[in-house]
Amino acid sequence: MVIGLSTRFEPKIVGFLCRWCAYTGADLAGTSRIKYPPNVTPIRVNCSGRVDPTFVLKALASGADGVLIAGCHPGDCHYTSGNVKTIRRFKLLQRMLNQFGVEKERVRLEWVSASEGERYARIVESMTKEIRSLGPLEWKTKVEA
Ligand code: FES
Repeated sequence: MVIGLSTRFEPKIVGFLCRWCAYTGADLAGTSRIKYPPNVTPIRVNCSGRVDPTFVLKALASGADGVLIAGCHPGDCHYTSGNVKTIRRFKLLQRMLNQFGVEKERVRLEWVSASEGERYARIVESMTKEIRSLGPLEWKTKVEA
């Protein structure tokens, strides 16, 4: 064993971030040099309403341990009601994941405005911590089996 290297499980989290709010908030966290875990791989989408549940399932089946969907606060969606659609889809997605035996904490829906870099960082921090405590998803043995 090499001294100094951590063997702690580091979750892989895919983040679908709305370009108008959450992605800009994430960018602000970076430019403000706010410290937070590097576990989220951001994917910019035009609106949280663009995130089809199959995107989430594909991310989990492809090796992600968790998925973060983040968009504009309710009432602030640039496409009027995209995030309202997201709320409805998210509830269905949670039921589906539950049937697959996937812990609901692995997929989160959050609202982050363009000025909330600190909030974005804290969400990533708490989600990383939570999934780290759950351990790897292991989709192939848990879901496909
Ligand atoms: S444009 Fe951000 S959630 Fe719709």
